[in-house]
Amino acid sequence: MPKFAEISFDTVIDRNHTDCEKFDQREQRFGRADVMPLWVADMDFAAPACVRKALAQRLEHPVFGYTFPADTLYEQLCGWFARRHQWALDPAQVMLAPGVVPSLFACVQALTQPGEGVLVPTPVYPPFLGAVQQTGRELIQSPLRETERGYTLDFEHLEREAANARMLLLCSPHNPVGRVWRADELKALIDLALRHRLVVVSDDIHCDLTYLGEKHLPLATLAPPELRLITALSPSKTFNIPALNLSALVVAHRGDSNAIQKYFQRQRVNPYNPFALVAFEAAYREGDAWLEALRAYLGANRQLVAEFQQVHPILRCHLPQASCLIWLDCRALSLSDPDLSAFFIEKARLGLNEGISFGMGGEGFMRLNIGTQKRVLELALAQLAASLKEF
Ligand SMILES: Cc1ncc(COP(=O)(O)O)c(C=O)c1O
Repeated sequence: MPKFAEISFDTVIDRNHTDCEKFDQREQRFGRADVMPLWVADMDFAAPACVRKALAQRLEHPVFGYTFPADTLYEQLCGWFARRHQWALDPAQVMLAPGVVPSLFACVQALTQPGEGVLVPTPVYPPFLGAVQQTGRELIQSPLRETERGYTLDFEHLEREAANARMLLLCSPHNPVGRVWRADELKALIDLALRHRLVVVSDDIHCDLTYLGEKHLPLATLAPPELRLITALSPSKTFNIPALNLSALVVAHRGDSNAIQKYFQRQRVNPYNPFALVAFEAAYREGDAWLEALRAYLGANRQLVAEFQQVHPILRCHLPQASCLIWLDCRALSLSDPDLSAFFIEKARLGLNEGISFGMGGEGFMRLNIGTQKRVLELALAQLAASLKEF
């Protein structure tokens, strides 16, 4: 086999003893090391061959001194978003950052004052809540509305609360509910933001992980120039390289990018790790075919969950339109949140994320990560099925 061939998504790769959070922190996280880890949002798949090859080539040069991003990196980023998302983003608006979470914290701190309100549709990826609460801003949660067909934004609630807010944090596509927001929803959000003079931060980290047939729409492609918009992008979820810690912010207004830049400079943050830079560029240059195969693979895993749900209707979910995450509605089990966690750990022997950590609307839910080999997921679902017998 050539050194940098693609590794099948079906190949189970032993991640134990690699200091990886998902496997090696099970004891610490769940109190026992024998749970199947289906929590933190990385996938159990090898990175694409193009990424591994670029990293190996960089390693051949033995000096790892201070580095800066090449122009070709910006070209590949722009090329990717143009061909995959029909977004002709302006390289002059791009700023590299160490990761999306540090960027969320930076945006909140650079563009709002302590005590100001930040509007966040929930449930949501927990660091959205932390970026507001841990920086002394006022968290205004706007619970998503659940309908027969899935989750939607609650525009009445958002409208009521927007008057008290300075910023809106959007997750697009949405973690954990898996929604790909439609054009009409995004346009309504833009109108709301313009009317209430909100700065909008759109975290598009899951934008490439749509299921076949779904299409992500960058808010930026619909927004007028007057909207103060920051979009966070990264190849980290797309290509399963999140620990390389590199992301890009696309900042529409110069004043906002100056403020964010200044914030990062004050922290002395240098995101230019030479390995992250070459991986980022190679993934956006050559990763299309790998991503297409991944999207199909995740689709088959999602189908396993759909079939499971038919047989075990006591657990419900709206199948995600994007991301490897399933927002599992366990309310029909009638367990308190601590008992629900204990059920998954002690009875099903599965390590999932607890819904309550995702803010309002998370009670009675668990988040399941299906970014793993089919046979691992089948085993996990079999364990869950066996544990549900007592209900
Ligand atoms: C919506 C969202 N944003 C950001 C991140 C993490 O970003 P980073 O690792 O670049 O800080 C995640 C990881 O799960 C996520 O789901």
